[in-house]
Amino acid sequence: MRENDFDNLLKLLSMPAPVPADAWRGLLAETDSGQRAQLAHLAQEVAQKHFGKGVYVRALIEISSYCRNNCNYCGLRCGNVLAQRYRLSKEEILECCRMAAALGFNTFVLQGGEDPQMSDEWLADVVAAIRAEFPTKAITLSVGERSMASYSLLRSAGADRYLLRHETANEMHYSQLHPHSMDVYNRRRCLVDLKALGFQVGSGMMVGSPGQTVEHLVEDLIFLDRLQPQMIGIGPFVPAAGTPFADERPGSVDSTLLLISLLRLRFPHALIPATTALATLCDDGTERAVLAGANVVMPNFTPMLYRGKYSIYDNKKCSGSESAQGLKILSDRLDKIGYHIDFSRGDYYKG
Ligand code: 5AD
Ligand code: SF4
Repeated sequence: MRENDFDNLLKLLSMPAPVPADAWRGLLAETDSGQRAQLAHLAQEVAQKHFGKGVYVRALIEISSYCRNNCNYCGLRCGNVLAQRYRLSKEEILECCRMAAALGFNTFVLQGGEDPQMSDEWLADVVAAIRAEFPTKAITLSVGERSMASYSLLRSAGADRYLLRHETANEMHYSQLHPHSMDVYNRRRCLVDLKALGFQVGSGMMVGSPGQTVEHLVEDLIFLDRLQPQMIGIGPFVPAAGTPFADERPGSVDSTLLLISLLRLRFPHALIPATTALATLCDDGTERAVLAGANVVMPNFTPMLYRGKYSIYDNKKCSGSESAQGLKILSDRLDKIGYHIDFSRGDYYKG
């Protein structure tokens, strides 16, 4: 793309008006490698302006590998006979939180499939117990689509944040990725409900999921521009054994990094994680994501006994930072690129 055109598109990213589809399309599909490097550089500057050289850490606890849904891409889908299932008890979850707290973590993320046994009452009780023991820490939930009443109960119990990726904003594409029982409208309803309840909300999409086109990504970016989430998680699609997409090609690392940079430039204050999916596809995925504008890492605190069973996709990497030693490795890796761990809660803050 010509330098002049590129500069004009860049300006649009920091304007209050919605970024038009043409502009997103140009930035996604017509930039050369030099311009992409420029985007990463600018994204890094924006991240540093708001977060310094700190990277927030969140303790990820994978609470259940049961799921009633049958998403075509996910290793936890109910139809996957290869999937190993487990569910953590309330006491096991609290124990994970204690370990994370002892290492200095100030955010717990409870993530799981849509486990039919995970009733509103049970989950609210777990959240309330964490809240009682750790009054000042942030509690993030990521347990899929639930009713407004359920979200409301969880919010009252003390949950602060909720992650629910929209996966793809295009209705047709959504139906390629999901079973008939799921639709793009309920997903959007959930996100709207969560926002209305005062959750800090995270959304996002997979990059390079089967059937995805540049146009779909343009729609995703426009969707995010409208939703204005506080957190945006994106990662490349990674094939999972035992799923209909087991033999599909993984998403592109470079496209994921480009999207991270574009998201950082468009959402300067957003909390953007360096995802496990990216780290799974390339060894220095975490570092590259941070250098492209990401500012969150989510070390895994799932008990070792269950760790391998939360297999959303194949060869899932696991930043084993649940020990002081593991955390040191992460800290050394960030240090090498001039960054450091920031242990504070890392709430969304728009000055
Ligand atoms: N590859 C990459 N990401 C996946 N997810 C689920 N399955 C896959 C896969 N095969 C992502 C989805 C979901 C999040 C928890 O994990 O985006 O929202
Ligand atoms: Fe279940 Fe989430 Fe996997 Fe879909 S993506 S099968 S809802 S765990």
